[in-house]
Amino acid sequence: MKTTISEAAKHIGEEVTIGGWLSNKRSSGKIAFLQLRDGTGFMQGIVVKADIGEEKFQEAKGLTQETSLYVTGVIAEDKRSPLGYEMQVTGFEVIQEAVDYPITPKEHGTEFLMDHRHLWLRSKRQHAVMKVRNEIIRATYEFFNTNGYVKIDPPILTGSSAEGSTELFHTKYFEEDAYLSQSGQLYMEAAAMAFGRVFSFGPTFRAEKSKTRRHLIEFWMIEPEMAFMDHEDSLKVQEQYVSHVVQSVLDNCRIELDTLGRDTEKLEKIKAPFPRISYDDAVTLLKEKGFDDIEWGEDFGAPHETAIAEAYDKPVFITNYPAEIKAFYMKPDPERPEVVLCADMIAPEGYGEIIGGSQRIDDLELMKQRYEEHGLSGDAYKWYLQLREYGSVPHSGFGLGLERTVAWIAGVEHVRETIPFPRLLNRLYP
Ligand code: 4AD
Ligand code: MG
Repeated sequence: MKTTISEAAKHIGEEVTIGGWLSNKRSSGKIAFLQLRDGTGFMQGIVVKADIGEEKFQEAKGLTQETSLYVTGVIAEDKRSPLGYEMQVTGFEVIQEAVDYPITPKEHGTEFLMDHRHLWLRSKRQHAVMKVRNEIIRATYEFFNTNGYVKIDPPILTGSSAEGSTELFHTKYFEEDAYLSQSGQLYMEAAAMAFGRVFSFGPTFRAEKSKTRRHLIEFWMIEPEMAFMDHEDSLKVQEQYVSHVVQSVLDNCRIELDTLGRDTEKLEKIKAPFPRISYDDAVTLLKEKGFDDIEWGEDFGAPHETAIAEAYDKPVFITNYPAEIKAFYMKPDPERPEVVLCADMIAPEGYGEIIGGSQRIDDLELMKQRYEEHGLSGDAYKWYLQLREYGSVPHSGFGLGLERTVAWIAGVEHVRETIPFPRLLNRLYP
């Protein structure tokens, strides 16, 4: 019977056939251990010379890495393996022999691995990271679908900038100018006025010349937007959402977290509510910690965020930033208009900002004023102003960066390993 590695647990004691690849191998005079992978998982296959015969045993010993094959054998329980079972191989048939596979079990440099990303994805570690990514996406849809949100897809090609004009990818749209979306937010605000609670999940683009472990040129964002919701209630959604995602990964990715060597005790603690610190208090805290370079009114960099996050074992919200350093659409605090009703969620363990969110300006006159201040007079923004003209309501939303979230939950140092084919400064291949 044909099956897969992940399904094989249902066939203990039975003989099955699995299509897969040889990821690694070791052997002695009488026994060979084949590390098999089939996309659904990794499993050990044991080939015993006495059972399979001299000729087939020699063939097994000569199998090369990434050779594709059909392996037949009996599934047997094995308490020592993370999977809980292995295969006693009774036969195998090579589909294609792979000669000189470039990625060997020895250490390779990062640039070499990045050049071979199309093959590197097959490795156990990369497989585990992508499975965690997939679980985060699954848990995201689950959370928003069960809470009454409608999935809405904003456009990728746009005529306007959502987050500021310096990081835009420009392209021609026939005779017009167009840009790749930096954020779907403005469109999600329109959607919230039509559907109440909405969320999006899609690629976004930033032409940022940043070369850090947290920056991608193309990354995926989850952007919920909620009508009739103030900033305080939005923070509650954010902490519940992130808690749900972390607990789902703990429930459904045990083998992957084990492969990655992730300290799961740290993840067990990630349950709502999350701590909050105001921007004001964060500046004071940083000064106490010896950061002399930061003054009120300046934005935080990665070292500042890390220093603030160190005080907590859960993600922390930094709230109420100065209006000056935040986007044009954020609603001023009515009691203190120099700061806005916003928060960044900073992940623990130095993974940095994973969410940016705010309450949006709902007042037409104030939005017109912001347009003037930011020079947003063009036709491209006309529709966004109309949202404040026809039945404007208080509303809030946020954006979660998927790759930074994967990096944190999987415990992966650099975001380049958290997306199948990363787009980085100076990297468009493969
Ligand atoms: O803070 P940002 O720029 O917020 C927005 O775009 C809002 N319009 C979202 C909203 O309110 N709907 O980006 C949101 C998140 C960041 O917190 C970060 O996790 C991620 O997107 N992000 C990046 N991830 C990888 N590489 C980059 N260059 C990123 N820039 C932002
Ligand atoms: Mg931000």
